[in-house]
Amino acid sequence: MKGLILAGGAGTRLRPITYTSAKQLVPVANTPILFYGLQSMVDAGITEIGIIVGDTASEVRSAVGDGSRWGAFITYIPQDEPLGLAHCVLIARDFLGNDEFVMYLGDNLLEQDLSTFVRAFHDDPERPAAQILLKSVPDPHRFGVAELDGSGDVLRLVEKPAEPASDLALVGVYLFDATIHKAVRAIGPSARGELEITDAVQWLVDNRFRVRAQLLDGWWIDTGKLTPLLEANRLLLERIETRIEGEVDGSSTIDGRVIIEQGAQVIRSRIRGPVAIAAGSRIVDSYIGPYTAIGPDCEVDHSEVEHSVLLERVKITDVPRLQDSLIGRDAVVTRSQSRPKALRLMVGDHSQIDVE
Ligand code: G1P
Repeated sequence: MKGLILAGGAGTRLRPITYTSAKQLVPVANTPILFYGLQSMVDAGITEIGIIVGDTASEVRSAVGDGSRWGAFITYIPQDEPLGLAHCVLIARDFLGNDEFVMYLGDNLLEQDLSTFVRAFHDDPERPAAQILLKSVPDPHRFGVAELDGSGDVLRLVEKPAEPASDLALVGVYLFDATIHKAVRAIGPSARGELEITDAVQWLVDNRFRVRAQLLDGWWIDTGKLTPLLEANRLLLERIETRIEGEVDGSSTIDGRVIIEQGAQVIRSRIRGPVAIAAGSRIVDSYIGPYTAIGPDCEVDHSEVEHSVLLERVKITDVPRLQDSLIGRDAVVTRSQSRPKALRLMVGDHSQIDVE
């Protein structure tokens, strides 16, 4: 069994962060999103993994390398244009051969690991052509939506329907046998101009191949936007164990589960976990509240930060309260004393700012 991870795509819903970085590499709980999927695949026993890469190929390659860190063997498959998830299967044909495979959208995060789904598919003597995962969601129109018959078989799949027939969204993890290669060749582009994997699976249903649906129990997050990304950060920080390898001075307090990596410093500050502070960061005269992940080499001085993600080398100075925020690399946020009192901004395209 092989793995196919999709790490192309433009990431428009996370701009401006994705102008300079792949959406799959944005860190949650200080680890790139993509690494969780990769680890989960390896944990399920899949080590031959193809990664589809687009414009951000070089960044993905330098983060993942040859996969040896996970005990995996990585093949990079370039996609010149983001022409859809079924197009990814089309261009991965040589890599996949006739093997069964699990396809994983690189910006998706699942609470459960993949082993149970992979085993259920692989060990089934009457294996279906495809196994999809579904999750009941409050906003199904944002996803592929499935309609099931009374016995739980898939009747119909529709990509982002205006009027969803159910609340069952297609989770970004699919198991396929080689029949899918016929399907991706048979379908045409959707209204958004992409070859949809949803349409390819519908083709299987229409042509009487078995498609089995499984309902997901645990949480699932498609991290492509700010709010779900912060939610994923919160859920993954919930799982951390305390590890204090950096320096904490005598006038600081640490409550709850906190990671302070080697080379990080906490001075005259209060940290209330779950919080992760990466190597080289300095927290001075500040409060870091729950569900905050501070990336490497940041500086937080005379400020309060909560429920936020800071990427590398961010500087926050004299900011009374920062929360629900995602701050990109090398960004600087300060409270200025100069008159007239005003917001002074240099903000990238597509940024989002909420003032109090
Ligand atoms: C894609 C799929 C959709 C699925 C979703 C899961 O949507 O087309 O069916 O529900 O991933 O994350 P996209 O992220 O391309 O809009």
